[in-house]
Formats: sequence, C-alpha cells, structure tokens
Amino acid sequence: MAVRLDEFKTRQRAVWSEGDYGGLSERIADVGELLVERAGIEPGMTVLDVACGTGNATIPAARAGGRVTGFDLVPKLLEEGRAKAEAAGVEIAWVEGDAEELPFEDHSFDRVLSTFGHMFAPRHQRVVDEMVRVCRGGGVVATATWTPEGTVGDLLRTGGEYMPPPPDYASSPLLWGSEEHVRELFGPAAREFEFERHVNWIEAESVDAWADYFMERFPTMVAARAMLGERFDELRDKVIAIWRTANEADDGTMRLPQEYLLSIVRL
Ligand SMILES: C[S@@+](CC[C@H](N)C(=O)[O-])C[C@H]1O[C@@H](n2cnc3c(N)ncnc32)[C@H](O)[C@@H]1O
Repeated sequence: MAVRLDEFKTRQRAVWSEGDYGGLSERIADVGELLVERAGIEPGMTVLDVACGTGNATIPAARAGGRVTGFDLVPKLLEEGRAKAEAAGVEIAWVEGDAEELPFEDHSFDRVLSTFGHMFAPRHQRVVDEMVRVCRGGGVVATATWTPEGTVGDLLRTGGEYMPPPPDYASSPLLWGSEEHVRELFGPAAREFEFERHVNWIEAESVDAWADYFMERFPTMVAARAMLGERFDELRDKVIAIWRTANEADDGTMRLPQEYLLSIVRL
C-alpha cells in the first residue's frame, strides 16, 4: 500500500535524526559559504535557510550581516545549529517545520536559501511555490543540489536501490540537480536564472577510513543499516566501489570530488 504523505514525513524526520549529520556536515561547509556569497547577502537583509540542518548556510548568512531564520524538519539538528551559532557568536531564529508548508508571511524574506535540504522534500513544485511566496519581488532564491552525474548522485541512486520504492507523489531529489528542472519549477516567477557547477572535495586518509567514518554518521546509511541487516554490507561495498572509481588521489589516500549545482534564481 502507498505510504501516506504524513507517514512519509514522519519517516523522513526519523531518518534525518539518525547518526551524526552535524559532524559530517562540516565536510561540506564550503558550499554554505559559497551560496551565501553568490546569493548576495548584505547587512540587514532578511534571510530564510530552508532545511538548514545544523546551519551550514545559516551561520555564514548571519556572519554576512543577515537577519536569519534557520528552518528544518528535525528538532535535534536545530538544537545543534543553535549551539554552533552560539559558538560562532551569531544570532539566528531556529524554527521547526516542513519545507512544503512554510509558516511565514508572503514576501517576508530578501533571500531564501537551501543547501542540499529542499531537494529531499517530496513535492518539488510545492517547495518552489512556498519559497517564491515567502521571498519578496526582486529577491533571490538560491539553492545547492548534488548533481545526478556526480559521486553523490551515484551514492543516492545506489542507496535508493535498497530502499522501499518512493511513493508516486515523491520526485527524485536528484532532479533538482538539472537546470531544466529548476527552470520548469520556477517558470514565470523567475526573472533570471544563473547556474554554476562546483565541486566539494572530501579528503581522507583512505577510502576505507572515509567509509568507516561516513557509514556511522550519514543518517540514511545509519537507517539503512538498521533496516537491511546483513544486506547492508552489499550496499556498503557498492558505495565503496563508487568512491574508489571517483577517487582522484593516487597515493593510497582519498580525494573525492562531489559535484553540485548552484541555482541562483532572481524573482
Ligand atoms: C543533507 S541535509 C542538509 C542540511 C543543511 N542544509 C546542510 O547543508 O548541511 C538535509 C536536510 O533536509 C532536512 N529536510 C528533509 N526534508 C525536509 C522537509 N520536508 N522540510 C524541512 N526540512 C527537511 C533534513 O532534516 C536535513 O536537515
């Protein structure tokens, strides 16, 4: 039987609470910094970071002088974000909720951001309509998404083979990594699109060392291990094979390119 939308969200909340996303996310901190720069955040601007996790874009946006709200489905991640913001000496409002139903007034933000968070909400058009609704005219919606062609694309597709099939109202997160899909979602709401492809590099002592670190922390892998039992080893081996193929280091260490698409949409 198809999974109801509320059950799907409950499951998503449980999955993203697993592992140690906050620790792992520090390896992609450069993406939040770049997105904030490209979104053109200036002191005093109101900024919403949708599906903010522990604050990878939220905290740099506040450092740039924005009046920032971090928004996420998972209370545990918001709490960790709050602690990181305190340590960084910035003030941020942390709000819990669902990207498909933003609890904010129309046109209330100058900038709406998301790094690798918006992509996991199942109904893409709903998310875009909400992001556009809360962003003021002349504002910017800026997102970062792993590309389907990159190593994280391979990882997510491989992980998907071991999960129950997604319900038919859920689009693939990786579609957000296609410029055409982003153009279609925003349609006439957008005045101008800018797209940039970048690479986040993961460096580690070796592929195996990275696998040990990652499998203990990445929420969907921790959830998959609990669900799959012994079959998890098969998934782990496939993921390691992806990383070995993509690894650009030739001295036994790991230097892994993770390509992503930055979409800067001017309203
Ligand atoms: C890969 S993490 C990205 C977090 C953060 N933006 C970063 O760059 O580190 C995905 C995030 O999306 C959040 N998320 C997933 N579905 C969501 C939804 N429907 N509404 C709000 N947040 C959601 C998860 O809780 C998680 O924090």
